[in-house]
Amino acid sequence: MSGSPVVTVLPAAGSGARLGAGMPKAFVEIGGVPMLVRAVDGVLASGVVDHVVVVVPVELVRDAAGLLPGRPVTVVPGGADRTASVAAGLAATGPEAEVVLVHDAARPLTPAGVVRRVVGAVRAGAAAVIPVLPVTDTVKTVDEAGIVTATVDRSTLRAVQTPQGFRGRELRLAYARGPDPVTDDAGLIEALGAPVATVAGDPLAFKVTTVWDLRIAELLLADVPAHPAGGVRSTG
Ligand code: C5P
Repeated sequence: MSGSPVVTVLPAAGSGARLGAGMPKAFVEIGGVPMLVRAVDGVLASGVVDHVVVVVPVELVRDAAGLLPGRPVTVVPGGADRTASVAAGLAATGPEAEVVLVHDAARPLTPAGVVRRVVGAVRAGAAAVIPVLPVTDTVKTVDEAGIVTATVDRSTLRAVQTPQGFRGRELRLAYARGPDPVTDDAGLIEALGAPVATVAGDPLAFKVTTVWDLRIAELLLADVPAHPAGGVRSTG
């Protein structure tokens, strides 16, 4: 670890309604380990992150802290949507965090290599960095009746993952404007007119949203040797 402090804000305060597990998604286990623990350990395994601010539902702050003994983490209560939760986490990072990552707890198998690429690009001078993958399906737009209105040029499309990396100053500035809810923090930097750089993402950084995704994650864990810190090995 070298250079200025790198802090990761880990939003984990979603309800998990689409997963239907009867508990907040980040607390659902994959291979016997809660997603939020896998996500924290995956980020720390990168060796380039100093501290993680974990954002959970207010009633689960103590439980979350109990799941993460011995790690450099702070646990804070989240908000009504992801943007409010990230804002709460960001407020807990402190001004000394010159590089801030925002990483969904719902991407528990994200390889350490993705984290290192993102931090490396911010350190190299980018104000905002996102990991992306090419889109492999053909993408079309449709009207309310489901009739196709256009076919999008897929060569210019990228699917966006996390962690997203930022110079802390820029991200704090974007959040200081009291943003409307967004699904993606880099969108706030775009709105400020600043360039957002991309690095290669990884299929293992997929987001667990549905029961299908959870099943895929379980199968991948069974298939791939365990990472010492709880993640899975990748080529990244
Ligand atoms: O709902 P979705 O899967 O897009 O959420 C992405 C991430 O944002 C998840 O890790 C989820 O826990 C988090 N989130 C949050 N606070 C909310 C809603 C979502 O921290 N109110």
